[in-house]
Amino acid sequence: MIIEPKIRGFLCTTSHPVGCDASVQEQIDYVKSKGAIPKGPKKALIIGSSAGFGLSSRITAAFGSGAGTLGLAFERPPEKGRLASPGWYQTRSFEEKAHKAGLWAKSLNGDAFSDAIKAEAVTLLKELGPVDLVVYSVAAPRRTDPKTGTVYKSCLKPIGKPYTNKTMDFNNGAVTTITLDAATQEEVDHTVGVMGGDDWELWMDLLQKEGLLAPGAVSMAYSYIGPQVTQPVYRNGTIGTAKDHLEKTALKLDERLKKTGGRAFISVNKALVTQASSAIPFMPLYISLLYKVMKAKGIHEGTLEQMDRLFRTKLYSGNAIPVDEKNRIRMDDWELREDVQSEVDALWQTVGTENATEQSDILGYRGDFHRLYGFGFKGVDYGADVPDSLIGA
Ligand SMILES: NC(=O)c1ccc[n+]([C@@H]2O[C@H](COP(=O)([O-])OP(=O)(O)OC[C@H]3O[C@@H](n4cnc5c(N)ncnc54)[C@H](O)[C@@H]3O)[C@@H](O)[C@H]2O)c1
Repeated sequence: MIIEPKIRGFLCTTSHPVGCDASVQEQIDYVKSKGAIPKGPKKALIIGSSAGFGLSSRITAAFGSGAGTLGLAFERPPEKGRLASPGWYQTRSFEEKAHKAGLWAKSLNGDAFSDAIKAEAVTLLKELGPVDLVVYSVAAPRRTDPKTGTVYKSCLKPIGKPYTNKTMDFNNGAVTTITLDAATQEEVDHTVGVMGGDDWELWMDLLQKEGLLAPGAVSMAYSYIGPQVTQPVYRNGTIGTAKDHLEKTALKLDERLKKTGGRAFISVNKALVTQASSAIPFMPLYISLLYKVMKAKGIHEGTLEQMDRLFRTKLYSGNAIPVDEKNRIRMDDWELREDVQSEVDALWQTVGTENATEQSDILGYRGDFHRLYGFGFKGVDYGADVPDSLIGA
């Protein structure tokens, strides 16, 4: 089969197994080129491990410090006549490469929020042994509460009043204005139910109860703050309220883990093109402008560069872990630099359909979006037939 990208809005319905493999290899090569992280983790559980920040965390742990990793993600497997989702291929590639490197690596594909997958993870972790790192990097649209059966659905809306601003269709560069209606209280509560810290806490309770946390274990979840222009829909909106909950959970877990010499943190990461962020209104435009400015200044990073810098220079440098007043590690330090934000602001005022290609890095955005699905990697022959054995069906 010859596989081409088929894009529908902010989704691509195809993925390229060879390109997904190249994506994993490129990330491994980057970590290895930087040398070992001697004080890095040795055994890690990564929840949300197949794409974006979670995959990059897993690669950094495994290929930076030789960690055995259990990865958990929720991906679509291949079926006859249907390609798998990119995260499924990336997980397969990661495991193959980790095994070749002599590393312990197993993965579970299922719903992290369910009791059933948690029980499966416990069984596998007993084989690996107590973990010294737990990364929680899930971005999900819904969650069923395992105790009550309540189904929470997250949404991306402002709170209190509607919000109007520019947005961009990254497929064609059209800049238009949209208005998002304000969320109801129920929608706010639902979003917190999915993207807040409840499930992270349930995981940590279980790992502690089962004796699967090594002394001194670190746990980490990822958050975002962002610029003024996205505040109404992000940080002060439904998703930001969930992030507030996640950050409060980190403080609670930190107190608990400190008793056994461990720590829990939030890492506030940079805005990047991932499957999760491409669905957030206003973000594609903001990210395209941000890329333009950060690339010009030579300070652009992708998810892997972010995670590598996080592990190498903050978490496992051997020095005290630098945190802000809310106990958060700030990987958005370069994004939120005053000079970066003032230039992004100025571009935001003047960008429109007619100048989007020059004023923003829409081409970089589009390229990264394609790469999420395994398209656009150097060295991959996209005109070549991909055999069924690689498609997996
Ligand atoms: N992308 C950004 O710009 C950005 C910036 C800062 C923080 N973050 C945060 O980083 C975290 C990860 O986001 P991302 O952008 O890397 O997302 P992503 O879409 O690239 O990855 C999400 C991961 O979650 C997994 N997942 C989804 N539903 C699941 C479920 N029910 N059970 C198990 N796994 C499930 C997916 O399989 C995938 O591995 C999120 O908390 C997000 O808010 C993202």
